[in-house]
Amino acid sequence: MEKSRELTLKIEGMNTPCCTEEVKEALLKVKGVKRVPICCPKRGIAEIEIEAEEVTDEQLIKVVEEAGFKAKVKEEGEEGELQALMKKFEIEFEKLAQKYNIPQKEIEEHWNLVKKEAAEVYQRCCDWSLGHGMAIKDAEAYCQSAILVGFGKFLWAEQIFKVKPKEQQMTNEEIKNLVASRYGNFAEKYALLGNPCPIRKKQVKELYSEKELSLLPKTALNLALGCGNPVSFANLKSGEVVIDFGCGAGIDLILAAHKVGPKGRVIGVDLTPQMIEKERQSEAEAGFPAARVEEQVSDIEKLELPDSFADVVISNCVIILTPNKEAAYREAFRILKPGGRLAISDMVFSEKIDPEITERFQSIWAGVVGGAIAEKDYLEIVEKAGFGQIKVVKRHFLTPGELFAMSTCPGTEFVPSPDPKDLKVVQGKVVSIKFTAIKP
Ligand SMILES: C[S@@+](CC[C@H](N)C(=O)[O-])C[C@H]1O[C@@H](n2cnc3c(N)ncnc32)[C@H](O)[C@@H]1O
Repeated sequence: MEKSRELTLKIEGMNTPCCTEEVKEALLKVKGVKRVPICCPKRGIAEIEIEAEEVTDEQLIKVVEEAGFKAKVKEEGEEGELQALMKKFEIEFEKLAQKYNIPQKEIEEHWNLVKKEAAEVYQRCCDWSLGHGMAIKDAEAYCQSAILVGFGKFLWAEQIFKVKPKEQQMTNEEIKNLVASRYGNFAEKYALLGNPCPIRKKQVKELYSEKELSLLPKTALNLALGCGNPVSFANLKSGEVVIDFGCGAGIDLILAAHKVGPKGRVIGVDLTPQMIEKERQSEAEAGFPAARVEEQVSDIEKLELPDSFADVVISNCVIILTPNKEAAYREAFRILKPGGRLAISDMVFSEKIDPEITERFQSIWAGVVGGAIAEKDYLEIVEKAGFGQIKVVKRHFLTPGELFAMSTCPGTEFVPSPDPKDLKVVQGKVVSIKFTAIKP
């Protein structure tokens, strides 16, 4: 029979939750690694459950290092995370018992019941603290809630982290305000630094060709947040008029401007003023005169653009975010000339998902996965808006790391990490699709 064991690695450079996803993914690819129950950037450790005898520590260190991090086995003599945690809870628990005047025997009984749960909750503390950009010390209040439950005192995550409970769904306006503030903060913080999430960085390199990357200015690349490359399948021609729905800092807009040339026209629209500001910066960095690329702060559900004047609408990972997708596609139809076309990259579910889960993604996290609907329903909206000849050019099922990165888009500092249990349910069912369609 195969022996099982546990190993804790101390990991350097694992600074964001995105990094932990990379580390987890790399470790889980090793045959014989059963689980990585704790992988915490704030504590810089990964606890690994290994099933097969032949898996060596060196092998695990090597895969972590190949993923771009420094790793070593946590030194002996160092107190295990879990034991340290248990001790901490025990002290906390005793303090609470004194406060509520509960006899020692009862404390012990309660403690035995609660400590396992509390330890598990602690791992979620780590996710919560990162998702909310708060110190782990504050997030530990969440662990205390597990202890308080033992006394019949409820203090849930919703109260501690001020997330909205299910019954208080956000209105469409609230969703848009939240989206604009998150993307605005991201644009301000990362225009110079670049995205701190290695998975997102890797995606940009994979989505665009070497030639395209060489045409793109730093600001546009640093703030790229798409899930495809619509210009690569839009078949743009010289002189065409192109509108980019949710242009962000201009990555696709600039590539479109190169394709349609000076006789063409490209207009980027985005809800977030800071993104439009960065788009102007990208345009200048690309060496375009200001008039060559147009832009406006605008909502794709209600555009300030004339009827029937555009040849192509492109969009990259945007319509998923907008709550009224029907309105966005009606607007695309209205502004396109007859014969005009769509080239869209967006995210969908490959099948219908339990509405309770999608509701939680929408009302609590509202990351990119927040607005996802089933592919069939999505393409029906496109068809109902009046489009024909809808052709899916490509589908890519997100890996666990990509799913985590996308569901916390634009970043875990701005969007709380979804419950790992909910992520598990949608894993393998979130697809980035690329499609074209024609206005008859
Ligand atoms: C995931 S980012 C993608 C940005 C860009 N297309 C790219 O590939 O880098 C989503 C962008 O959509 C914008 N957005 C979201 N909802 C929008 C809406 N209703 N109208 C216009 N822009 C919107 C956000 O402000 C953000 O810049």
